[in-house]
Amino acid sequence: MGRPNWVPAGTDLEKPNAARVYDYYLGGSHNFEVDREMARRAVELWPELPQIMRANRAFLRRSVQYLAERGFTRFLDIGSGIPTFGPVHDAARAVRPESRVVYVDHDPVAVAHSRLILDGDPLSSTVLADLRDVDGLLADPDVAALLEPGEPVAVLLVAVLHFVDDRDEPEKVVARLRDALPPGSALVLSHASLEGAAEQAGPHQELYRRTPTPLTMRDRDRITGLFDGFDLVEPGLVYLPEWHPESPEAVGPHPERMTGMAGVGLLS
Ligand SMILES: C[S@@+](CC[C@H](N)C(=O)[O-])C[C@H]1O[C@@H](n2cnc3c(N)ncnc32)[C@H](O)[C@@H]1O
Repeated sequence: MGRPNWVPAGTDLEKPNAARVYDYYLGGSHNFEVDREMARRAVELWPELPQIMRANRAFLRRSVQYLAERGFTRFLDIGSGIPTFGPVHDAARAVRPESRVVYVDHDPVAVAHSRLILDGDPLSSTVLADLRDVDGLLADPDVAALLEPGEPVAVLLVAVLHFVDDRDEPEKVVARLRDALPPGSALVLSHASLEGAAEQAGPHQELYRRTPTPLTMRDRDRITGLFDGFDLVEPGLVYLPEWHPESPEAVGPHPERMTGMAGVGLLS
């Protein structure tokens, strides 16, 4: 397989990868045949998947806009993926042009591409780090500078915690991050949910189990528990299209089929 020049040396092009499969669902070009094959098999099992991914991306944009309108100018986007299709810095700066964004991902392709896109942007940076090692992530100089005492930060964990296995204790990961945040900070979270996906959950997780990025879908109670210590803003934890929709029509007739759950919490 030929290696495009934006792919860092050492990247395994023989195995599908979550960031690139997601890029394919969104209609992007930063993916390989192995990723497209994986996505095609997943869509055969679950035809609504591309629509769910777009609903997730739209939630990310609306939540960032919501927080920017409430004064947030610092964003820490963990599991940021390949920042095309309405990235955080565009959504935030449409409201607050001075917004600073630190993107974090553990995938070298996502990070390399992110750095290309953000080249020359003095208010954004991209960090290669693993969410499961919160102390390592917090020690990064760009992350540490963003988390200056006294300045609230919006932490985004959008469609990433379902890639954190129960053995890696996602609740503890979020709590460790929460404890490092200045008061008034926010958590933006979306997560693949078991609700509304009773038939698809088993085969879909089985498909991901054979990849380097297994997926753990969780129920409403587990996802709500990830907000421990935060106050959920209205309307609470809901299906992706139901969170502050741009119009009542935008929710669509079956929001429960867009099975990701989403919410925003504030730290007092
Ligand atoms: C489905 S994409 C979500 C991208 C973006 N947050 C969004 O919702 O549009 C999940 C991303 O999380 C990243 N990821 C998965 N596990 C991670 C971990 N342990 N640490 C950092 N990033 C991770 C993947 O590489 C991928 O880019």
